[in-house]
Amino acid sequence: MASIKLNAVEKWFGDLQVIKGVDLAIEDGEFVVFIGPSGCGKSTLLRIIAGLEDASEGSVIINDNDVTGNLPSERGLAMVFQSYALYPHMDVGENIGFALKTAGMPRTEIKKRVDEVAGILKLESLLSRLPKQLSGGQRQRVAIGRAIVREPVGFLFDEPLSNLDAALRVNMRLEISRLHAQLGITTIYVTHDQIEAMTLADRIIVLDEGRVIQAGSPRELYNNPNSRFVAEFIGSPKMNLLPCMEKSGRIVFSGFGKNTARKKAISEKFLSAPSSAVVSLGIRPENIALCDEDAGHISGTVAVCEYLGSEQFAYIDCGLDNMVTARVSPDAELKVGSVTGLSFDNEKLYTFDGDGSRLYKPPR
Ligand SMILES: Nc1ncnc2c1ncn2[C@@H]1O[C@H](COP(=O)(O)OP(=O)(O)OP(=O)(O)O)[C@@H](O)[C@H]1O
Ligand SMILES: [Mg+2]
Repeated sequence: MASIKLNAVEKWFGDLQVIKGVDLAIEDGEFVVFIGPSGCGKSTLLRIIAGLEDASEGSVIINDNDVTGNLPSERGLAMVFQSYALYPHMDVGENIGFALKTAGMPRTEIKKRVDEVAGILKLESLLSRLPKQLSGGQRQRVAIGRAIVREPVGFLFDEPLSNLDAALRVNMRLEISRLHAQLGITTIYVTHDQIEAMTLADRIIVLDEGRVIQAGSPRELYNNPNSRFVAEFIGSPKMNLLPCMEKSGRIVFSGFGKNTARKKAISEKFLSAPSSAVVSLGIRPENIALCDEDAGHISGTVAVCEYLGSEQFAYIDCGLDNMVTARVSPDAELKVGSVTGLSFDNEKLYTFDGDGSRLYKPPR
């Protein structure tokens, strides 16, 4: 098992700096997820840890050893990619055992290890099939098996489930969770998927433009985002941001269309932190209740309704650039085109300044 440390890691591709000084300490056995917009440097950072890419500056430390100049094979890490890249002419057992064979391990030992791994991944009955005879999820399990069999000190996953259909993704997500609980191997997992990040991670690292923006447990990031960026990035559907301003010591909405919104001040309680820097107010969809047109903080017209069975989201046009999203009871029958009031839970409001820094968060 391994602790993994990055010290002031930078990466330049020619004149383009894509990693801008990343410090990170990952504990032995921890499950860390890198998340961030496309192109922010997640794969590059992972490849630097794996040794598939050199760091331009800084160092990579595994278990207190500086491995910055070491080959991938000297780092003891196993990487699983989005594309499974199985050998098409080898069956499942041969695919899983290939690395051991090239390392010169005796046949009987290879068979023992392959059988063990097949047991862990429930591949026993598929060992003599070729990759083309497998489903996407089974192939991905073989790819994971190939990584496990080498008994790595750490796992690196780069969007391993993004080629799978929705149901398989859920299955494989659970498999990976179970595997981590069972083997306790330090894991770094790159994903775009909110749910994967929230459900798998001990700690989520939010990256943007080659920098760590915030790191914390899923709960911490959801409840205590340090910026508008993280507030909007973590949570699906995302947090609503409403333009507002400070006026005579009160926070009032601003920037709404003429007829669509009541510009009602936010509760007295919330005024403990008024600031002239406030430009937007954040509220999550689950903290907005729909009410009579005149009873809410603002009002708007129901534009779209998404019924998902166990929950329902209403997208409301309040005359802003973006629709306001509210999570409502799946039993509520909402009429598209109807006018509704929106009432905010005053205990669950956030404020942000013009640079996107968070000024206020709800007490928890
Ligand atoms: N070999 C390369 N040469 C030049 N630029 C590169 C190279 N590899 C990556 N980049 C650039 O580095 C930046 C980070 O790329 P990276 O693949 O790490 O992003 P990512 O966060 O994994 O994105 P995605 O979510 O789309 O996979 C991007 O702007 C990309 O174009
Ligand atoms: Mg990538």
